[in-house]
Amino acid sequence: MQKILVEGGRTLNGKVRINGAKNSAVALIPAAILADSSVTIEGLPNISDVDTLGGLLEEIGAKVSWGEEEPPFGNTMTIDPASMVSMPLPNGRVKKLRASYYFMGAMLGKFNQAVIGLPGGCYLGPRPIDQHIKGFEALGAEVTNEQGAIYLRAKELRGARIYLDVVSVGATINIMLAAVKAKGKTIIENAAKEPEIIDVATLLTNMGAKIKGVGTDVIRIEGVSALHGCRHTIIPDRIEAGTYAIAAAAQGNEVIIDNVIPQHLESLLAKLREMGVTIDVSDEQLHIVSKKQLKCVDIKTLVYPGFPTDLQQPFTTLLTKAEGTGVITDTIYSARLKHIDELRRMGAKIKVQGGSAIITGPIKLEGARVKASDLRAGAALIIAGLMAEGITEITGVEHIERGYEKITEKLVQLGANVWREEMTEQEIEQIQNA
Ligand code: EPU
Repeated sequence: MQKILVEGGRTLNGKVRINGAKNSAVALIPAAILADSSVTIEGLPNISDVDTLGGLLEEIGAKVSWGEEEPPFGNTMTIDPASMVSMPLPNGRVKKLRASYYFMGAMLGKFNQAVIGLPGGCYLGPRPIDQHIKGFEALGAEVTNEQGAIYLRAKELRGARIYLDVVSVGATINIMLAAVKAKGKTIIENAAKEPEIIDVATLLTNMGAKIKGVGTDVIRIEGVSALHGCRHTIIPDRIEAGTYAIAAAAQGNEVIIDNVIPQHLESLLAKLREMGVTIDVSDEQLHIVSKKQLKCVDIKTLVYPGFPTDLQQPFTTLLTKAEGTGVITDTIYSARLKHIDELRRMGAKIKVQGGSAIITGPIKLEGARVKASDLRAGAALIIAGLMAEGITEITGVEHIERGYEKITEKLVQLGANVWREEMTEQEIEQIQNA
């Protein structure tokens, strides 16, 4: 087990390259099993969630091969699903990440049946999957929950009109996966519009699916009887890019963020500009020049294209440096607040009131021992470490590795002093007993 150490106070300068999107990758990999022949996905991030899904595919008999190519293609995964079998996945790897729930839609679509354990992933408060289930049932599946696993069975999947009561990324993708091979027409109303959903629909379309309206709140799918293999290049990770943009605003001089789709980050860039950060945008790059004194702003997280909940935690850290009082309200995950106690340990002045975090600055953070309890909390604490006086020790590195490829190396390349150390047995014991 490792911990990350950050010696704060260094200014960030230079260029950082962004990887393929985690939240696309974790849906593209299950989507690939719907094909009858090999699918190659280019530009996958080298993160533990992708490794876990690769292992899951092998468990169910798919042939998985990895390759490494020069940018822009990066890591590639070729999935040959021809020898796949329909088998239950009640435990094991499915419990390690949230996105294993995409095997529900994908296996249901492929075999008309699936048994998948309830997913794990970051604890952000309750994360129900009732809308996924509503969609599967509308398509003709019988769905039961037996001892922590979801059983899905259908004689035949038939297209349906499905109105989502909650705008959900996961439900929108999962229903698409189950519907692309269903008989007839499916209409998903009040669908989510995140770029990762468009990426998954692009892959499915390249595989031969007939999907219209992705990126709007009504998606129309005409079922086809078979899907074929193809090559697909994943979109860049807007949340990784946003994390580095926030780090650059917090502790940067001039930072270039390369391999981004700037339109995916408009809500964040608007808020950074409001704070006084200068941002030049070109086709695939952000050029960020920060100021010593930043103005505070308020943030409300919303579904895309609103401010993403996944950047709320890193943004909280940035606000500790801004002049005045800023309010952050997460309307997607109101309990996504576990980073706050850790930031307080580092000297941040943050009050939680009625589900909002009220941050008063500017405060000079101080290095401390802190724990990343989820992926984006980890990113928030690394940024805090960069800003703080002294050394910050961050445990819970396994959460960070689920979503950020080579985060310490990338920060070192930008001039930060960040490194990893093995934890002592005593430290591991302390964490386990905490
Ligand atoms: N919701 C329901 N019922 C459902 C599904 C969702 O009530 O059946 C609620 C959730 O509780 C939440 C809201 O709807 O309040 C939105 O949830 P959504 O389904 O959109 O989230 P998700 O698909 O589980 C994905 C990302 C998250 C990201 C959210 C919101 C993946 C694997 N995860 O989760 O990413 O926060 O969308 O954009 O794509 C992360 O990357 O750190 C992360 C947590």
